[in-house]
Amino acid sequence: MFSVFAPGLFAGKLAVVAGASSGINLQIARRLGQAGAHVVIFSRSEDKIAAAVEDLRQDGCSAEGFAQDVRDYPGVATLFERIAVTRGEIDIVISGAAGNFVAPALGMSANGFKTVVDIDLLGTFHVFRASHAHLRKPGASLISISAPQGLLPFAYQCHVNAAKAGVNSLSQTLAVEWASDGIRVNVIVPGPIGDTEGMDRLSPDPEATDALLRRIPLGRYGGKDDIAALAVFLSSEAARNITGAIMVSDGGQTLIGAGGVAAALGARDPAA
Ligand code: COA
Ligand code: NAP
Repeated sequence: MFSVFAPGLFAGKLAVVAGASSGINLQIARRLGQAGAHVVIFSRSEDKIAAAVEDLRQDGCSAEGFAQDVRDYPGVATLFERIAVTRGEIDIVISGAAGNFVAPALGMSANGFKTVVDIDLLGTFHVFRASHAHLRKPGASLISISAPQGLLPFAYQCHVNAAKAGVNSLSQTLAVEWASDGIRVNVIVPGPIGDTEGMDRLSPDPEATDALLRRIPLGRYGGKDDIAALAVFLSSEAARNITGAIMVSDGGQTLIGAGGVAAALGARDPAA
């Protein structure tokens, strides 16, 4: 089978992945590292990051990690400065830190809404803004990890819907503003990906999983490597003409509409 995971593809490159102590982002870091990039990962938890770095090294990656909250701009800026001083110009940045919980708008405090917007949207602004001074120009690739919620209004997800729509818009705006520096900025929209914290939160029981699967035309959850493959492609020379793209890998879920997750969570399904 054709594979984008080519050894040596990113030899000599430097990649930074925000929110990579677990799940999809950790798998992206693994695939970038296995293709030869030195990968720097960060997230809030020192213990989770240490375990993730060990996991990456076991899989043959050159990796290091730091505990840093994406909501803290001075901290993020200092981290990028430190990475650039020790490792040089940055070729690849992935912004994937996110928070989610399921709650109706009326069951969510202002701080609950703000917390998710701060992690997903403000965090992506922080990561991209702080990276800019240290990016390879021309040549750097920036990718934000968004979600179908940024394209469709999912019930019980008003915070994530708003945050991820903002992530899409921010990324496309930077794609235009930074194109003259030779920096590309793209968005990946994963659909439901099995064996992840995100799906555990959105599809908490077998009944919900069945309801959700019925609304995915390809009839399956994606895998973490489906998203890592897109990240590898978009970060590579093969994608040199692509910027501002919102690339969806969701088995066709967003073609069906927002009712899937609402159905899975027990809300009225407009298509039922
Ligand atoms: N329903 C309603 N409100 C909730 C909630 C829920 N299930 N979970 C958290 N909140 C609210 C809290 O009550 C708090 O609001 P308040 O101060 O008005 O009471 C606010 O959200 C912040 O909660 P807190 O636990 O202090 O935030 P945190 O910064 O420690 O954690 C979260 C952020 C809430 C997003 C947490 O779930 C998290 O760390 N998630 C990361 C992992 C994840 O979500 N992975 C999936 C990615 S798609
Ligand atoms: P995950 O394993 O929970 O990954 C989220 C990561 O973000 C964790 O490493 C977490 O680490 C980090 N993080 C959270 N808050 C942070 C903060 N304030 N600062 C820095 N790091 C923070 O979830 P996942 O399901 O793999 O999701 C990864 C990405 O894919 C997210 O952007 C999500 O929205 C997107 N997505 C996932 C799915 C899916 O099916 N899973 C579908 C669509 C989109 P710490 O706890 O150590 O901070």
